[in-house]
Amino acid sequence: MAESGIKGIPRHVAIIMDGNGRWAKKRLLPRSAGHNAGMNRMIGLSERAKQIGIKYLTVYALSTENLSRSQDELEGLYALIKKYFSKNVDRLIDGGAALRIIGDLTLLPYDVRKVVEDGVARSPKDAQFTFCIALAYGARREIAEACREVVGKGLPVTEQTLSANMYTGDMPDPDLIIRTGGEVRLSNFLLWQAAYAELYFSDVLFPDFSDECLDDAVAEFSRRTRRFGKV
Ligand code: FPP
Repeated sequence: MAESGIKGIPRHVAIIMDGNGRWAKKRLLPRSAGHNAGMNRMIGLSERAKQIGIKYLTVYALSTENLSRSQDELEGLYALIKKYFSKNVDRLIDGGAALRIIGDLTLLPYDVRKVVEDGVARSPKDAQFTFCIALAYGARREIAEACREVVGKGLPVTEQTLSANMYTGDMPDPDLIIRTGGEVRLSNFLLWQAAYAELYFSDVLFPDFSDECLDDAVAEFSRRTRRFGKV
């Protein structure tokens, strides 16, 4: 059904990258060190995902709820995001990938927003692999915004018009959603799009979630039978 074209490989994988703080705490390091290690792992996983034939990888990097963290932690995360965009995005794009952002960028400081929007604008339109970063993202906010858009355009409120007006309007729904770090919940991530996704929870803290861990999650996905509500 929604496979990448390579048998058993999900077309769209989404990851809730949880556990950076605990990873750092275990090492007596500041939380910022956990986020830095998480960013490096995120880059590695995006390369692995592309390599194994996943077409879309979405990562939950900053939720609307995360915006209430301490100013210190947020500034560290903003600095990481800017570093990622200035150092890694060109390589991603040169390799034929596209970068997408979902979320409400108006909630971010202007300089962060600008760097992010420039990276997205440089992306090719016909990429074989799309790396999508959820920033200042909240699913309930997205759904409410989509409703306002649909009504504002004078369209009927249907599953199709709502789907098309989500931030992910031009992307397929995720086939597999992975959460690292041991918690078993979706935390306001892709709630509309998760309707038929397979869910995979791992106790591994995100900075330790290796390429092999991703391969294991994909292997588990390929063993599951997806019935989409049918018998
Ligand atoms: C959750 O772990 C993780 C985050 C809030 C941030 C995730 C961000 C990255 C991996 C880097 C993103 C970088 C770019 C460039 C987009 P937590 O801090 O809640 O961990 P804890 O539950 O152990 O405290």
